[in-house]
Amino acid sequence: MASNTVPETMAAMVLTGHGGIDKLEYREDWPTPQPGPGEVLVKVTATAKNNTDRKAREGLYPVKDKGDTVSFQVGGTATFTFPRIQGADVAGRVAAVGEGVDPARIGERGLLDFNLYADHRRDINLTPDYYGHGADGGFAEYIAVPSDQFHAVDNPGLADAELAAMGMCSYQTGLHMLNAAGVTSGERVLVTGASGGVGTAMIQLCRVMGAIPYALSQRDKADALLELGAEAVLDRSDMQDFADKVRAVTNDQPIDAVMDLAGGDMTDRFIDTMIFDMKRRSTYPRLSIAGASAGNVSEIMWTRIYLYQVQIFGVSHGTREEAEQLVAWIRSGQLRPVLHAAFPLSRLHEAERYFVERGNNYLGKIVIVPDAEWQEHGAPFGLQQDAE
Ligand SMILES: NC(=O)c1ccc[n+]([C@@H]2O[C@H](COP(=O)([O-])OP(=O)(O)OC[C@H]3O[C@@H](n4cnc5c(N)ncnc54)[C@H](OP(=O)(O)O)[C@@H]3O)[C@@H](O)[C@H]2O)c1
Repeated sequence: MASNTVPETMAAMVLTGHGGIDKLEYREDWPTPQPGPGEVLVKVTATAKNNTDRKAREGLYPVKDKGDTVSFQVGGTATFTFPRIQGADVAGRVAAVGEGVDPARIGERGLLDFNLYADHRRDINLTPDYYGHGADGGFAEYIAVPSDQFHAVDNPGLADAELAAMGMCSYQTGLHMLNAAGVTSGERVLVTGASGGVGTAMIQLCRVMGAIPYALSQRDKADALLELGAEAVLDRSDMQDFADKVRAVTNDQPIDAVMDLAGGDMTDRFIDTMIFDMKRRSTYPRLSIAGASAGNVSEIMWTRIYLYQVQIFGVSHGTREEAEQLVAWIRSGQLRPVLHAAFPLSRLHEAERYFVERGNNYLGKIVIVPDAEWQEHGAPFGLQQDAE
């Protein structure tokens, strides 16, 4: 192993079991991982929080029985075992390289493609597990990852915390939702959960791809979403006659594809926006589903799906090709971060509470910075009282 000086132990937020935030223990004596063959050891400077951290901790990924308390078992066996360090969207610097990796990479700044890919295929990802779930993630000072999944991004104007906020859990999922539905330039796309990590990513991605994003969100977030690129913002607190409200902003045209992160009772209303007059369409209605913020069970009449030929796509994460495309767009400055605030790693409990109880006007990502890196990488993005 070639390296800068790497200590034997590190600070880490260790999850000890399923449950509340009391299951997250801050340790300063955790063994520093070693990079294996083909891996780099990354000194973490910022890791973005995602909904999945809380959902996995609480065991909210049922796939068989509605009441199951489990984390997902995409490869057939449970990979979310304890102790586990969570945190999927990691930015940092290469501190050491394993066998077979060019030592010239030491010092490189980059962003992790968070997937634990089952094989080397670039165009498909059938068992989407990830760092922070099936292997240790970035709520720590160091993480060991495959060298070809740590992508160099050296844009001088982009801070490490901002780079983490553009992590793959949001951006790659958003891109895969759009690609799965075959969204093309000029199409009208309804983006739900628009102020969240995936939603803000998708608004930008639609614009990069030439599609027209209509955001479903809340009134007090409308200005920020319009500024980000939304064509119009619809209010999710008033879903009555929703298709009419959409028609009023689309010049009476149907939505071509819906990106559904909400689920629950809302999905049926989303379908209305695509099928109110099939003669106005030139493609099949398409529904990509990747989240369930409004509820995990939706009641939809089967006849509506097959008579209107609604194509439904379940989406988890994305592919190596999509990660590389996103990094290319980040490097060329076509995407920008939507960073809400940074918290020090030792205060992850507080960040979790803040994330769950967030109020109005909240947009984008929370990023966690190791305490030793706080002054340089976290403080400029701390909440106002922290930055002082
Ligand atoms: N399948 C995957 O691979 C994958 C990957 C990432 C995330 N996800 C899932 O996708 C969803 C969004 O993730 P995220 O990271 O963007 O989360 P997030 O940052 O927490 O954003 C979620 C957004 O959903 C909206 N929302 C919250 N409660 C809602 C409700 N009751 N009804 C309707 N909308 C509601 C809010 O936006 P507005 O206030 O703007 O409406 C909120 O900002 C989550 O369910 C997450 O678990 C799945």
